[in-house]
Amino acid sequence: MANIVIVGMQWGDEGKGKVVDLLTEYADVVVRFQGGNNAGHTVVVGQETIILHLVPSGALYRGKTCVIGNGVVVDPQVLLQEIDELRKRGHFLDDRQLLVSEDAHLIMPYHRRIDVARERMKGEGKIGTTGRGIGPAYEDKVAREGIRFGDLGEEKVFREKLGAILPVKNHYLDTCLKDQGFDLEAVFQEYRGYGERLKKFAGNVSLFINGQIRQGRQILFEGAQGTHLDVDHGTYPFVTSSNTVSGGACTGAGVGPTRITEVIGVSKAYTTRVGGGPFPTELNDAVGEKIRERGREFGATTGRPRRCGWLDIPLLRDSIRLNGLTGIALTKMDVLGEFDTIRICTAYQHRGRRIEEVPSQVQVLKECEPVYEEHPGWKAELRNARSFRDLPRQARHYVRRIEELTGTRVTLVSVGEKREETILRRNPFQRRPRRS
Ligand code: GDP
Ligand code: IMO
Ligand code: MG
Repeated sequence: MANIVIVGMQWGDEGKGKVVDLLTEYADVVVRFQGGNNAGHTVVVGQETIILHLVPSGALYRGKTCVIGNGVVVDPQVLLQEIDELRKRGHFLDDRQLLVSEDAHLIMPYHRRIDVARERMKGEGKIGTTGRGIGPAYEDKVAREGIRFGDLGEEKVFREKLGAILPVKNHYLDTCLKDQGFDLEAVFQEYRGYGERLKKFAGNVSLFINGQIRQGRQILFEGAQGTHLDVDHGTYPFVTSSNTVSGGACTGAGVGPTRITEVIGVSKAYTTRVGGGPFPTELNDAVGEKIRERGREFGATTGRPRRCGWLDIPLLRDSIRLNGLTGIALTKMDVLGEFDTIRICTAYQHRGRRIEEVPSQVQVLKECEPVYEEHPGWKAELRNARSFRDLPRQARHYVRRIEELTGTRVTLVSVGEKREETILRRNPFQRRPRRS
């Protein structure tokens, strides 16, 4: 039996939603284990496009359980909206399809306001957060001042916790951030309403998943954001506030590392980034503009234009090491179908020195110049390719070169946003490797 973790290898938006949706066919349970509604995972099935922020991307299949682990920060208002939207479209009709960890921390209105106010105060030096209150919610978790999903259904406990923390937050908002505070009664009533609707979904996620594994069911863990947005291993401070690497699946879902059988990293055939922070291969020219246009690179959560650039191998190498990857899912190959030549950054140059890994100091990374090699483009539409042999020679060469430079197999190539626009070279849920 296989239990597989899917993570982003770059700065998010690699196409994790598509890959998770595709592989859900072979899984029984799909689990989000970190992040919150800063994520925007797009799933395209037939004529339908759904962007999921909190509910795992397995939601479009009947009979599969979607789990939100303890490592996720949950905005109850967003969760309810998402459930309602899915139901309106005829999905996710059975309440038993969703389980939310009672230990997951709640995003409160003051988290959102603090997030936005801090960014405003930082001005030019801002991180470019999604403004969803993610960082402040994780801060309260670690400070042991958070309110958890399980508290939503316990009115008395919820009120006590809110009563203790709200005056502190109001004081901080008023004196440090010059912003407005919140009325205790109004927040309490709002969240009481959420609690009434959501308490039926609360439960012990670790117990559930481990029980499922014992019964031989297959689990798919869905990472959010990307490796270089990890709070420890990313381009700090231009990161998110959770551990986005594969190890986060263990802490964020209550599953031991011995239960994980494979880790697949998702990478675009080029690189994008939303928000601030260094980006060595960024293209502030017509080529970058072309990638943005062809790849429709606008944020799934905030609508912001994504910064675009060539594929960065040092980023991928770091990601392979940090996640213990067993394979790469390479997405958006079709987007590069219009270029005469395509570049791959194989290393960086820093003050005359060649660097193969991503330096941990952000000020050093900022000064890094990419070292490129150039490859001929394939100048063809790839969307109809269904096996590796269907790809033009130059496209096959591009994939093989990535394998060579990273020492890792590209097990899936995505050539369009739809489920079927995929070349699955090896299915991680099927034991015997099948090569196309
Ligand atoms: P995620 O956050 O990693 O799930 O990625 P997003 O959904 O934020 O962004 C990926 C975007 O690329 C979405 O609009 C997907 O529909 C789209 N996408 C995924 N794979 C492919 C692909 O192979 N080709 C094209 N053209 N689009 C893709
Ligand atoms: P998915 O799961 C891309 C970025 C934000 C900002 C930084 C911190 O769709 O790949 P935060 O709101 O988390 O405190 O913002 O992280 N960021 C993402 N970028 N994809 C995401 O999620 C992201 N989630 C957060 O733009 O730079
Ligand atoms: Mg996204």
